[in-house]
Parts: sequence; structure tokens; C-alpha cells
Amino acid sequence: MGNGMFLTDEEKKILEGEFGETLQKVMKTVVLYGQTFGAKRLVKLDGPVHLVTSFGIPMLTPVFEMMEELIKSNIKAQKPFTVDPRPLDYCNVPVNILKKLVFKVMYGKQKDYEDQLRAVGLKDDNAFTCACYLPEVGNIPKKGDILAWAESSAVVYANSVIGARTNRNSGIIELMSGILGKTPEFGFLTDEGRRATWLVEVKTSKLPNPQVLGSAIGMKVVEDVPYIIGLDRFLGTGLSEDTKDYLKDMGAASASNGAVGLYHVENITPEAAEMGRQLLKEGYKTYVIDDEEIKRVINSYPIMWKNINAKPKVCFIGCPHLSLNQLYYWTERIVKALENVGQKKLKITTILCAPPDVIDAFKRDEKSYNRLIQTGAKITYICPLMYMNNPLCAKEAVITNSNKLRTYSTARFYLDDEILDRIVRGY
Ligand code: F3S
Repeated sequence: MGNGMFLTDEEKKILEGEFGETLQKVMKTVVLYGQTFGAKRLVKLDGPVHLVTSFGIPMLTPVFEMMEELIKSNIKAQKPFTVDPRPLDYCNVPVNILKKLVFKVMYGKQKDYEDQLRAVGLKDDNAFTCACYLPEVGNIPKKGDILAWAESSAVVYANSVIGARTNRNSGIIELMSGILGKTPEFGFLTDEGRRATWLVEVKTSKLPNPQVLGSAIGMKVVEDVPYIIGLDRFLGTGLSEDTKDYLKDMGAASASNGAVGLYHVENITPEAAEMGRQLLKEGYKTYVIDDEEIKRVINSYPIMWKNINAKPKVCFIGCPHLSLNQLYYWTERIVKALENVGQKKLKITTILCAPPDVIDAFKRDEKSYNRLIQTGAKITYICPLMYMNNPLCAKEAVITNSNKLRTYSTARFYLDDEILDRIVRGY
């Protein structure tokens, strides 16, 4: 089954079934996947995998069966892994009885699936987040590390902001790779695959909203690699905490509004800082983003609400999950905005989504945590998209500052300032 792919003796033995039928299937899957993309060999992983499938939807029967087979054969990932967010949190995202019934059917296998994840190597019970690379969570790759991740927002962050190397793997392939400790070498794992075919010139008069900039880039370059210039005018050089947060949100939008898995930002991201415009391939295309273009992109978003004048019922902030820095930022902004109008509580149910470990860290700062909670805002660890996947929730007027959530659900997008005004004034 070599088919153009070099395999070591040990890999061949696994493929021939010398280490059991289940491991043989795992190897077969990864090799076939690699062959599909023209990989010439498997390479060793340097860090844990991050899984995209975090929810126990009963119709995922083949996944549950496969997990059962792995568990029976005593096979697990070589390094403890992280996984995308949990779907439900009735304490902080309360729902009525009808919605609960639907959720019970939708995520009826959640507990069983989480047991399976633990058995095959889940890091711990807090390991459920799409922002696994945040310091509090601890699945933090180093520059140059070879990885096999699947969640698009995490893949684009690891590749671009950290300079690690991962393809945007299909769900379950990342688990198979984690078990073998190896992944096929192609695409973003190669120097050539990391070069840019687009020069994106940001010529706006002020720092654009990251979610809109990412969306504009994603819609234009789709799955290509952009080299972005002009952001250092506003962000400075290098990677401060604020810049990392900005790039996290920009990347997630580019990955969901298009399929960007890697971008370079001049004088900011590690490979661009090192190699500069040498990263651009000959014959690259150019895309200029100015104030007009940002406006055009925002105006192009369809409104999916039945009644476009409905009063919002829920607001989600934090898709991808918020960093600790961003939780403080939103706390400050919400508290100040309420003070400015002499009000104590928000008028719209506002839910901030963050990794469980980040929430724990924030709660340890009781003063700040209480300041936020007293405004009526809630903090949860769920993925808001999994909430919106409930058809009854999808009918509600939900607002968000996330372009990923807007793209994949009926939620309506607003810029941060508008979101803040709306949750304070209730419109
Ligand atoms: Fe994360 Fe869910 Fe958004 S996985 S990026 S919070 S859609």
C-alpha cells in the first residue's frame, strides 16, 4: 500500500497488522489520507493533537463505534489532547423546557462520548475549548512544531501566530495521527506550502475590526495564504497580548468566511518577521483593503432574522473563546458603559464564552469576576454555535460580534461598539 509514500519498517509492520487489527486500521486511515494529498512520508508530531469533535450527537454512530474499538484495544493518543468546547451549560446559558428537550435529543450521547474521550487520552475535564493554545489551557505549541489539529480557528492560530505547522485535518484524522504520533507531510508542513500567493494591503485610516478584516481576507483569498501588510501601523511590531487577541479573532474569521489556514503579517507574525516578503511567491495577487472595502464587506452580510426589527434576546461574545485579557477588556467596557448611562444591569442576556481554565483564572480574581457578574452578564464554556444548532434557538434574535458565528448560524453581526450599546440599552 506504499503508493508513492515512503514508510519506515515499523510503519510497514503496523500497516501489515503486526501490532493488531485496530492499530492497522488507524495506520491505513492516516496513510490513505496522506496519499490523497500527495504526501511522501509520515513525520513525527511534536505536540498533542487538538480534536474538533466535542459533542455527542447520537447520529455520529460510526465515531462512537470506532472509539469503542480503540478503547477495547487499549489504544490511546500518545500525548494528552484537548478538544473543542462542550455544547451545553444550563447554569449559565439557561433554556426553557422545549429547548432542553431538543438539546437532550441533539446531544443525547454527550456523557458517553466524554467518557470515551477520557479513555483515549483527553487531557482533563477542562480541556474543552477551541482556544487550546492559551496559556491557562496549556496545549501550547512552539514555533516549528509539527502538529495535527483540525479545528479551523486553532489551526490558523497555531500556523500563523505561533509558527507551528499543522494542516487543517478532517475530524477524526487528527485523533488517528495523535495515536500514531505521526502525520502525513504535505501542505502547511512544508516550506513551500507556507509561502503566500496574495499580498493584502491594509490601507484603512484606523485599525479595522479584526472579525471584519478576517472576513474580507477569507472571502477574497479563500484557502490561499495571504501576506498582510499595513497592520503594524496600528498594532506595532511583534506579538503583544492585544495583538495575539486581535490575530486570534481575525484568523478565525478568515478561516470561516473563507478557508484560510495560515497567514503572515509583516513585522508581526514569526515567519514574516524572519523572512519578510521573501515569503511571497512569484506572480502573487494583490488585494487592497481600505475604509470603503471594510464598509462594503459589512454591508454584504445577509440578515437571517425573520423579523429584522426584533429586539435581541441573547448576545454571544467569544467565538472563538475569549482570552483572559479579553475577559478583562469586556468587563471594563461593560461596567463603564453601564456607568455612563447610570444603569446597573444589561438589558439583553449577554453571554461571554471562554475556556474553562480561563474562566477559573478569572474567578480567582473575585473582584473583577463579581464586577462582571453584577452587570447580569454570564460567562460560559460552551460553543455558541452548538447552542444555535438547536432549531428553536436559531429562531431567536441572537446578536454577536463573531463573524464565524454569523457565518454558520442565524446570529446577526455587529461591531464591538454597537454590540455594547445594544446590550446596555436593550435594542
Ligand atoms: Fe470556537 Fe465554537 Fe466559535 S468552536 S470558534 S466557539 S464556533
